[in-house]
Amino acid sequence: MRVLIAYCTRYGATASTSEEIAKVLREEGFDVRVANTKKEKIRSISEYDLVIVGAGLQMFRWCKESEKFLNKFQEDLRAIRTAIFVSSGAIAVMDYDGQTEEMEDHWQKHLVDKAEMYSIDPIALGRFGGIWDYDKMNFVFRRTMGPFRMKLEEVGIKEVEPGVYDTRDWDEIRKWTKDLAQKVKGY
Ligand SMILES: Cc1cc2nc3c(=O)[nH]c(=O)nc-3n(C[C@H](O)[C@H](O)[C@H](O)COP(=O)(O)O)c2cc1C
Repeated sequence: MRVLIAYCTRYGATASTSEEIAKVLREEGFDVRVANTKKEKIRSISEYDLVIVGAGLQMFRWCKESEKFLNKFQEDLRAIRTAIFVSSGAIAVMDYDGQTEEMEDHWQKHLVDKAEMYSIDPIALGRFGGIWDYDKMNFVFRRTMGPFRMKLEEVGIKEVEPGVYDTRDWDEIRKWTKDLAQKVKGY
């Protein structure tokens, strides 16, 4: 079974999450291609049995090349098993603050509505953590997000290197991928 993981990232989380998903799928016997849609032009997806689209979030928006990918291949994706995931650095804080309604809205807006917008019926939706990299942020974002650093520390998210916080739960990502593999094999 051939799998394409097409992702778009700004800070790198969606890239490394995609690589981990690919690793698990390869262990499950799938033939996986991982493509960074900012760097690679994908001409056709008809050869794939499963397509996973990943997008990093920033300022309430998907990283735009993933959105373009959905738009471009929406007809093909209706005929191919499709899964969608987003990388969200904000969700860990929302969870800590008990913002259940906001978390549901976030899921609806970034996953359910997005699939509906392109009339795609995904077999799995995923929302994973992300990276807050203060060195990679531009000046305005670094200033705006500066106070948020204290919040990340309050939540218990440790710096993985100076200025970099990673909110991902790798076990959750691996479990999601294994469940997806089972679903695809069971078809
Ligand atoms: C300026 C800025 C704005 C952000 N806005 C959001 C947001 O609206 N929603 C969200 O869930 N995460 C937000 N985040 C956290 C990102 O989702 C996180 O950095 C994630 O890793 C982005 O994916 P990427 O690393 O693949 O680019 C924001 C991060 C930055 C730096």
